[in-house]
Amino acid sequence: MLGPVILAASRSDRIRRLISAAPVTKQVVDRFIPGERVDDIVPVVRELTGRGLDVTMDVVGEDITRPEQAAAARDAYLELIDRLKELELGERAEMSVKLSLFGQALDGGHDLALANVRPVVEAAAEIGTTVTLDAEDHTTLDSMFAIHDELRRDFPQTGCVIQAYLFRTEADARRLAENGSRVRLVKGAYKEPADVAFQQKAEIDKAYVRVLKILMDGEGYPMIGSHDPRLISIAQELAHRAGRKLDEYEFQMLYGIRGDEHLRLAAEGHRMRVYTAYGTDWYGYFMRRLAEKPANLRFFLRAMVSK
Ligand code: FDA
Repeated sequence: MLGPVILAASRSDRIRRLISAAPVTKQVVDRFIPGERVDDIVPVVRELTGRGLDVTMDVVGEDITRPEQAAAARDAYLELIDRLKELELGERAEMSVKLSLFGQALDGGHDLALANVRPVVEAAAEIGTTVTLDAEDHTTLDSMFAIHDELRRDFPQTGCVIQAYLFRTEADARRLAENGSRVRLVKGAYKEPADVAFQQKAEIDKAYVRVLKILMDGEGYPMIGSHDPRLISIAQELAHRAGRKLDEYEFQMLYGIRGDEHLRLAAEGHRMRVYTAYGTDWYGYFMRRLAEKPANLRFFLRAMVSK
C-alpha cells in the first residue's frame, strides 16, 4: 500500500524540498548512492571490481526542464567514461542511461535525447564497453525502443531494459530476443495504471518468469535485474535448461541492496553486475528505492525522529 504513495510523492516538488533538506537524508541516501562526484565514484568502481563484481554506472537525474541540463548530463557521462578509461575494465564497467535525463520529455525530446546519448555510446565503445537504456514510465517506451533500434545500427551491443509488470513486455521480449541483443529484465519501479500494467506482486512475478523464459530460450544476452531469491533460482534453472553457459547471461542488482548475494553469485562463477548510481540529483532514484521496501521508509523515518 505504501509503495504507490511514495511513488506519487516522488513527483512532488514540495516533498522533494522537505526530504532533501532533512539533515538525516544524506546518511540514508549514501546507502544507495555512494557518491556525488566522479572523484567519489571511481574508488567505488575500483573496490567493487576488485571484489570480482562488474558494474553499470548511472548518473542520477531525470526530471530536467532545459536542454542545457541534458547537455550537462551527457558531459557528466563523458567525463565518467574518460575516468573509467584508466581502469581498463572494458565491458566490466558499462553505463546505464535514463533518456529523460538526456531531454526526452522536452520539446523535440526524442531527437534531443538521441543526439545526447549517441556520443556517450560512441565514447563507451571506444573504451570497449557499452550502454544500457533504462526503462522509465510506460509513456516513454516507444521512444526509448526507437532510440535503441537506431543506436543498434552502429552499436549492436547497446542494451535496453524491459519491465515485467507491463502487459506489452512479452511482445517486446519476443522482438528483442535476437542474436546479439542485450536485454535487462526488471519487475518495474514506476506507478503504472491498471490498463497497462499488472498491479499485484504475484502477477508481476509470474509475468517475470514468462518473459525470462522468452529471453533465456532466445538468442540474445539476458540480464536478470532482480534481488528476488525465488526469481534468481528460477533464472539459474531456466539458463541451465536452455543450455546456456555462465557467460551467456548475467545477474544485476542495485548498489546497497543484498550485497552478500552479489558476492555469493560472483563466487559461484556468475557474472554479477552492480548498478551503481551517483550524482547530486538523487531524489527520484532514492524515492523509488524507498517505495520498493517499506522497511527502508521505516528506517528513514526512525533516523529522522531520533535526530
Ligand atoms: P522485490 O521488490 O520483490 O524484492 C526482492 C527482495 O529484494 C526484497 O524482499 C528485499 O529483500 C530486496 N529489495 C528489493 N528492493 C529493495 C530496496 N529498495 N531496498 C532494500 N531491499 C530491497 N526499474 C525500472 O522500472 N526501470 C529500470 O530501468 C530499472 N533498472 C534496474 C536495474 C537493476 C540492476 C535492478 C536490480 C533493478 C532495476 N529496476 C528498474 C528496479 C526494478 O524494477 C525493481 O523495482 C527492483 O529491482 C525491486 O524488485 P526486485 O526484483 O528486486 O523484487
